[in-house]
Amino acid sequence: MNVQWYPGHMAKTRRLISERLRQVDAVCEILDARIPASSRNPDVNELTAGKPRPIVLNRADQADASATARWAEHFRAQGFAVLVADAKSGRGAGKFAAAVRGLLADKLKAYADKGQSGRVVRVMVLGIPNVGKSTFINRVAGRNVAKAEDRPGVTRSGQWVPVGKSLELLDTPGILWPKFEDETVGLHLAFTGAVKDEILDTETLGCHFMAYLAEAAPERLKEAYKLPALPERGASEDTVAYGFRLLQAAGRGRGFLISGGEIDTERTAKILLDEYRSGKLGRLTPELPE
Ligand code: G4P
Repeated sequence: MNVQWYPGHMAKTRRLISERLRQVDAVCEILDARIPASSRNPDVNELTAGKPRPIVLNRADQADASATARWAEHFRAQGFAVLVADAKSGRGAGKFAAAVRGLLADKLKAYADKGQSGRVVRVMVLGIPNVGKSTFINRVAGRNVAKAEDRPGVTRSGQWVPVGKSLELLDTPGILWPKFEDETVGLHLAFTGAVKDEILDTETLGCHFMAYLAEAAPERLKEAYKLPALPERGASEDTVAYGFRLLQAAGRGRGFLISGGEIDTERTAKILLDEYRSGKLGRLTPELPE
């Protein structure tokens, strides 16, 4: 599995964040509610030292609701202000400004005591590509801001987006990927489609996802692929080997055959992952707080 991600681009992003940090009152991380740990960048703690830190658990519509509640509690216990959101429908976005003001209450009071009660609060928004940053910012701002590119090598402009008269949001000036040293982080980012084919080929990824589903949501797997029963996992069977047998069973269930009657496991894997990413397999959170 690939572990080094656009190191030059990451270094540039770190520099940009450090440069803009002194202009902001808080740094907001937008995380994918399905994979809150894997969609975090471990360097953010160090990069944003001392700044108040709201966390948005976005894509809550795609995550298991009780798992999201556990994650919210987990981050709150660490002192973060947490907002559960679904930027696509706009749920949660309306509470953002108040959450930030609550987090900065002491600072705002100090400003007011100095006669600066109208001071604009500025928040930098960070998050991995495709987590919903633009959509969330647009929802909070109640307007349509053109989406900036976030492919490696194409830097976002880092524009300020006004929210009413007292809040401004700064879109991420670049990309900050999580660390991929841990194989699970890479797999989870690939399951959700945050990284597409860079980590593993679709079929192998599909094997890992099948093995996860068989353990975490066997009933849903049976229903989606018309399987009366799931094959048992062998005592010493490796994850990919077991996942491949599941892919074969699922492909057979759906009738994905190629010439000669062989099962098209590659197509099955692609459809399986597409269905998870588009929400057709329901709300699933592959990782829980420890
Ligand atoms: P980014 O700035 O972090 O890169 O992400 P962006 O807002 O561009 O969102 C990426 C995709 O994710 C968009 O879909 C967006 O609609 C979708 N999205 C954002 N937030 C949520 C959410 O909370 N729930 C769900 N289900 N989807 C979300 P797209 O396919 O690129 O465009 P479109 O389908 O909206 O046209």
